[in-house]
This record gives sequence, C-alpha cells and structure tokens, in this order.
Amino acid sequence: MPVVAVIGCQWGDEGKGKIVDLLSEQAQVVARCNGGTNAGHTIVNERGTFRLSLVPSGIFNPQAVSVIGNGVVVDPAVLLEEIDQLEAVGIDMSRLLVSDRAHVIMPYHKLFDGLEEDARAQTGIGDLGTTRRGVGPAYVDRTARTGVRMGELLYEESLLTKLSAIIPAKNAILTKVYGAKPLQLHETYLRLVEWGQHLRKHIMPTELVITRALSENRSILLEGAQAALLDLDFGTYPYVTSSNPTAAGLCIGSGMPPNRLSAVLGVYKAYQTRVGAGPFPTEITGQVADFLRDQGGAGHGEYGTVTGRPRRVGWFDAVAARYVAQLNGLTGVAITRLDALDNFSKITLCTAYKVHDAHLSHIPADLSELDTVEPQYEEHPGWQMDTSKARSWADLPENARLYIERISQLLQTPIAMISVGPHREQTIMVRNPFNSLPQQVGQLVQSLGS
Ligand code: IMP
Ligand code: MG
Repeated sequence: MPVVAVIGCQWGDEGKGKIVDLLSEQAQVVARCNGGTNAGHTIVNERGTFRLSLVPSGIFNPQAVSVIGNGVVVDPAVLLEEIDQLEAVGIDMSRLLVSDRAHVIMPYHKLFDGLEEDARAQTGIGDLGTTRRGVGPAYVDRTARTGVRMGELLYEESLLTKLSAIIPAKNAILTKVYGAKPLQLHETYLRLVEWGQHLRKHIMPTELVITRALSENRSILLEGAQAALLDLDFGTYPYVTSSNPTAAGLCIGSGMPPNRLSAVLGVYKAYQTRVGAGPFPTEITGQVADFLRDQGGAGHGEYGTVTGRPRRVGWFDAVAARYVAQLNGLTGVAITRLDALDNFSKITLCTAYKVHDAHLSHIPADLSELDTVEPQYEEHPGWQMDTSKARSWADLPENARLYIERISQLLQTPIAMISVGPHREQTIMVRNPFNSLPQQVGQLVQSLGS
C-alpha cells in the first residue's frame, strides 16, 4: 500500500493543511514528522475551522491513527489545548499517538527563543524572525543531548534528577548572559509531571506503529511542516527553521524506512510568500504586492497563522522550485491558491537567475550571492475569471491551464492537485498520489513528455 509524503516546497504556508486533510481520508496512518508549534495550518471542514499546530490533520478521519513523530518538538501545553479543542467537537482523541522520542519544548526554550532573537537584532546579522515558540532552542538541546523527551515525562524520579542538573545550567545563562529572572526548579518539575499525567495515554514508541502499519500494508501519509526552502541544510541558511522539512527529513522524523516511500507530493503556492527574515529573490513590494497579499491567504489575506505577521509576497520562483523538486524526488505537484491570481491581467514567473552575466540554475548557498541574483522573468496573460468554482482541469480557463503547465514543465514534475479555495471541494484532483493511475490525465501530463 502506498506511503505518501507531503511537503511544503517554498517558505511555508503553501496550504499543506488542506491538502493533507483531503488526502488523509485515504490514509490509515497520518504522521507529523518535524517542526513544532512554529507550524500552523488552517483546516476548514464540516465540523468548523480549525487552526492546529501540532495535531496532524488526519485526526478528522475516524479510520486513521494520527502520529506525532519523533522528529517533532512538542509544547505539551499547546498540545493539551488542541486536544481539548478537538474533544469539544466530539473527535475521538484516543487515536492520537505521540512518540516517546519526540523532544519537549521546555518553558525555558520559549524564553531563550525571545532573548536570542532580541540579542541577534542588536548585532549586524539581525534577527531571524523566528516564531519565538521555542522551537530552535529545543532542537539545539536535542543536538546538545540535554533535551527532555516526551517519554521522560512519565518517569518522575529520573525527571527530577535530570532537571536538577539542567535548570541551574539554564539559570546561569539566563541570569549572567541575559540578566533575566532564574527559573524555579520545583515549579518547572511540577508542570512537567502534570503534562506527563495528562498525556500518558498518548505517549508510545510510534516508530513501531509505522513498522506495524507497513507490515500490514496500510496506507500512510507523512505530513511535513514548514517547507523545503526553510530546511536546515538546503534552505536559505541561517534564515531557516531548525528541522529538515524535506522528504528525507520526514523519514527520519517518523521512523519510515526511506525505500518505502511510494510518492512525494510537493505543495507550492501559485505565487510565493515568506514570513520572517531572509532572501526572497522574486519578492515584490508596493501596490501589486498589497493586492496580492489581499487576494491570497484563503480569504483572510496573507498573514501568518501563528504570529499574524503580514507575509512578504512575490512571484513564483521556478529556479528555487526546481531545486526543491529535484532534491526531494517529487513525484507530483500540488498548486494551491490559484484563485488568488484570478484578478491579475498579467502574471509573472521567474524562470532563471542571472548573476554577473551568468545563468544560475539553483539557489546558491552563499547569501551574498543570492542577494545579487537578478531573477529573469517571463510574463503570462492572466485569466481574469473566477476559478474558485472549477472542479476539473477542463473547468479552468485556458490561460490558467497554460500557466500551470508551464510550472509543471519547469519543474519536470506532473501536476497532481490544484487548489482553488479553502474548502475541501475546491480541489481539482489531476492525479491522486494514493493511486497509481491518474484520475484525469489531461493534456497536462502528456505535455510533459513532449
Ligand atoms: P522558527 O522555526 O520559529 O525557528 O523560525 C525560523 C524561520 O522559519 C522564520 O523565518 C519563521 O517565520 C519560519 N517559519 C517557521 N515555521 C513556519 C511555518 O510553519 N510557516 C512559515 N514560516 C515558518
Ligand atoms: Mg502555516
């Protein structure tokens, strides 16, 4: 049975939540694999509108088990709030499993995220524009081997011993480096014990759930958070997140053997956005940018789900997009927010970067080089028609089809899905990633061969 990984392919907020929600109807296991409370996805379904940051979208499918994998950093307070919110609308939360190997975002991680950002802002580098949710510091402690894992919340005695070593060390930095207030060991300990008691029934070795699901031929959906251009290794470092939101990262973050992936679906917005600092070659500002920001964002405008910050906006960057497609072995592409472009008379697409009279076919590692690239654009006529009611490839205006075909050609990857609005039914399924046979092949896929 298929194992489908869904990853964001720009700088996040591509509308993965909706795509995953839709595909999870076909999955028996849905696993979130990376990131933490920095992610925020909005899901609109018959039960209401939900903004989740930790619980996988698969929770809405009563046939599926939802896993928060070992690669996720978990803020237990937020997780408990999300569980309450979902239980209140009658969702059975016993199907939520949390890896005992997932790291805890500790109260001090949130403090450090803010203090470190403020300190960076005072330097020549400037701040990174993190979500200040403690995600980066939690991954730092994971790598430093001073992290606390979800499973440890269940062993009160050893937890106290561990905290007795950690808290004084953290306090030394808090007070001596930042002049901040120290943490109380006992208060922190009691909070953790309480979290453990509430979450006990969810915590388990979830990698074994994956192993078992594979041996029973179940269909599995791996849900990525953030996106490939925020990847710690291949993104625009240091303006990246601290996990690997790529297909390989999803395997590590869930315990999925890499050779078991059957499809990797890459989600791209029909244009490009970014929250936080960092390079953005195709960024636009001014009136056109304001217009695009208002048109996008599933009816709410392009503002961050987690922090409410206005998103920076720009044109589709096919150079970055192709780089990501290749690195992740994409087998299909989902284009989202196509409807946000409905009212444009012309649409601009970046097909190459020029740097010192040479063409560059990938995103360079060096930021100063990336800052000097000149995006080479081609213009496409807009369609100036409402696409939000399109339900098939044939329903789309011709200029919209041509634009999408061009993206598919530049990415050398077939289109799988197109989203034209926040609701489930506002989706055109060109090629279902869970089926080997395309549902509606269309000229699109054929055109790739020519
Ligand atoms: P952090 O992940 O909070 O450390 O933030 C690092 C960078 O990643 C910042 O630019 C954030 O705005 C960005 N980021 C983190 N999570 C998301 C997300 O889910 N969507 C969009 N941007 C994100
Ligand atoms: Mg988001």
